[in-house]
Amino acid sequence: MVLSNKERPTRRSQAWFGRQDRDGFIYRSWMKNRGIPHDQFDGRPVIGICNTYSELTPCNSHFRTLAEQVKIGVWEAGGFPLEFPVMSLGETLLRPTAMLFRNLASMDVEESIRGNPLDGIVLLMGCDKTTPSLLMGASSCDLPTIGVSGGPMLSGKYRGGELGSGTDVWKMSEDVRAGNMSQEEFFEAESCMHRSHGHCMTMGTASTMASMVEALGMSLPGNAAIPAVDARRNVLARASGRRIVQMVKDDLIMSRILTRAAFENAIRVNAAIGGSTNAVIHLLAIAGRIGVDLTLDDWDKLGHGLPCLVDLQPSGKHLMEDFYYAGGLPAVIRELESVIDRSALTVNGNTLWDNCKDAPNWNREVIRAFDDPFKPDAGIAILRGNLCPDGAVIKPSAATPALLKHTGRAVVFENSDHMHQRLDDENLDVDENCILVLKNCGPKGYPGMAEAGNMPLPPKVLRKGITDMVRISDARMSGTAYGSVVLHVAPEAAAGGPLALVQDGDMIELDVPARTLHLLVSDAELERRRAAWSPPPAPMHRGWVKLYVDHVQQADKGADLDFLVGKSGAGIPKDSH
Ligand code: FES
Repeated sequence: MVLSNKERPTRRSQAWFGRQDRDGFIYRSWMKNRGIPHDQFDGRPVIGICNTYSELTPCNSHFRTLAEQVKIGVWEAGGFPLEFPVMSLGETLLRPTAMLFRNLASMDVEESIRGNPLDGIVLLMGCDKTTPSLLMGASSCDLPTIGVSGGPMLSGKYRGGELGSGTDVWKMSEDVRAGNMSQEEFFEAESCMHRSHGHCMTMGTASTMASMVEALGMSLPGNAAIPAVDARRNVLARASGRRIVQMVKDDLIMSRILTRAAFENAIRVNAAIGGSTNAVIHLLAIAGRIGVDLTLDDWDKLGHGLPCLVDLQPSGKHLMEDFYYAGGLPAVIRELESVIDRSALTVNGNTLWDNCKDAPNWNREVIRAFDDPFKPDAGIAILRGNLCPDGAVIKPSAATPALLKHTGRAVVFENSDHMHQRLDDENLDVDENCILVLKNCGPKGYPGMAEAGNMPLPPKVLRKGITDMVRISDARMSGTAYGSVVLHVAPEAAAGGPLALVQDGDMIELDVPARTLHLLVSDAELERRRAAWSPPPAPMHRGWVKLYVDHVQQADKGADLDFLVGKSGAGIPKDSH
C-alpha cells in the first residue's frame, strides 16, 4: 500500500520518525545506535546524500570527502543528513560497458529514495554514467533534489605539454599504430595523464553531463567546472547541503526545475560547449522519467546553427581547468543570452539567467564570444535516411569538415570482435575514401551500446598520414573521442535495422548539411537480404542482461527500459512490521 498525497504527513520522513507507537520506536531506536540525539527526529528535513563513491570508480574516489562537506551544510541549515550508497558505474573498469548498467543503477536510486525516510536528496555524481543514472532514478521520485558533481581532474602534464583524458589516449594510440610514438613513451604518459582526484578533464561525457546538470538548473552555479581538488569544490558541496534544506521547506521538487525550457536550454548549452553525443541519449532518458516530451529531432532543431564557444578537447585544445579559470559554464550561458530561455528556474530559486547574467569571462581564448565563435554551427546533427529510419547522430564540431559530405564504399564489420580481427589485416581492402561500418554494438546487440563507434583507422591508412575517415555504427562513442563518426543508428542491427543489411562494397552517401544518410542499394536487393537475415543469438538467458535486452528501447528513445519510463513519485510505502 502507498499512502496518497492527502494521507501523507507534511514531511514524508515523519511517516517513520514521527510515529508515537511501536513502529516509531523501531524506526528511531536503531538509528540511535551511532549516537544520534532524539531531537534529530523532531520533523526537521531529512536529507539523503546519494553517494556513488567506489574504489572501482576512480573518478568518484574522493566522494567521501565531498559527502562530509554536504553533511556539514545540511547540519548548518538545520537538516538531518543521511548518506547512502548506490551502484557506482566506473567507465574505465566495468565490462562489457558501464552503459549496460545505467538503467539498473537508476532503479537502485529510485527504490532507495522511495523506500526510505527522506525529504530531500543530494546527488553526488561524477564519472559518465553516474550522472544520468542518479538523475533518472531521482526524477522518477520527484522529491526536492540538488546535484553536486565531483569535478574534473587537474590537467594532465607530459614532457612540457598537456594531456587530456581519453582524447590523448586515442591520439597517442594511433601514433603508436602509425609508428610515430614508441611503446615506452606511450606507457610513460600513463602516469602523467591522471594526477589528481576527479573525472576526465576534457569536455568528455562526464564534463558534459556536469554542464548539463548546471544548464538544467539542477545544481548551484559553477558546478560544471570547479576542479575536484580545488577547495571551492568543497564550498559548493557545503552550500548545496545548506540549500537542499530550504528546497524541502519550499517544496521545490525536480519537476518544477526540469521543465521543457530547462531541457531546451541544456541542448543549446551542449552545442556551445562542444558537448558529448552521449548527452543526447541521457537527456532523452531523463526527460522520459520526469515527463517532458523531448525527441531526437529537438536536438537538431534547437542546436542547429548554434556555434561552439568553448575551445576544449576533444573539439579544441584546452582542458577543464582552463575552462574554470576562464569563467566556466556561467560565462558560456551569459553569451547565449539571445537564444536561451531566461526564465528557467534553478535549484537556488533564481532563474538561470539571473545566475549567469553578470558572469565574468577571464579568457576569451578559452570561452569565445557568441559573435566570434570557436566553431560555427556546432549543434549535434540528426541524420535520417534508409540506413537510419529512426535517426542517427553526428557531432559536426568533432568531425573533419571535408568529410561531412562524403560518398564511399563500405567496409563492414559484423561486430566488435570482427572489427578487431580484421582492422589490422594488411590485406584488408580499404583506403581513406572508404566508410567503416560496425554492426551489433547497439543497446541489444553489444549488449549495452558500447563506446565502440570511433573505430581505430586501419594501419595502412594511418601510415599515409590520414587521421580521419567516415565511420558508421549503432554504437556510442566516448565523449572524449573525435572524428567523422556517425553514431546511434536506429533501429540497431540486432533489432533488424537496415544497418544489419549492409555488405562490403555497398556505397553509402553521407550528407550532414542535408541531414541524410543513405545506403545506395535498391529496395529489392535490401528485401532479398532481409529475407536471408536472422537476429543474433540472445547474449544471456537470465539475470539483468536478459531483463535489459528484453526491455531496452532504441537509442532514439534514450535507451531506457520500456517499463521505467515515467515516474511513480515518492508516495510512502507501507511499513515492514
Ligand atoms: Fe570517469 Fe572519464 S572515465 S569520467
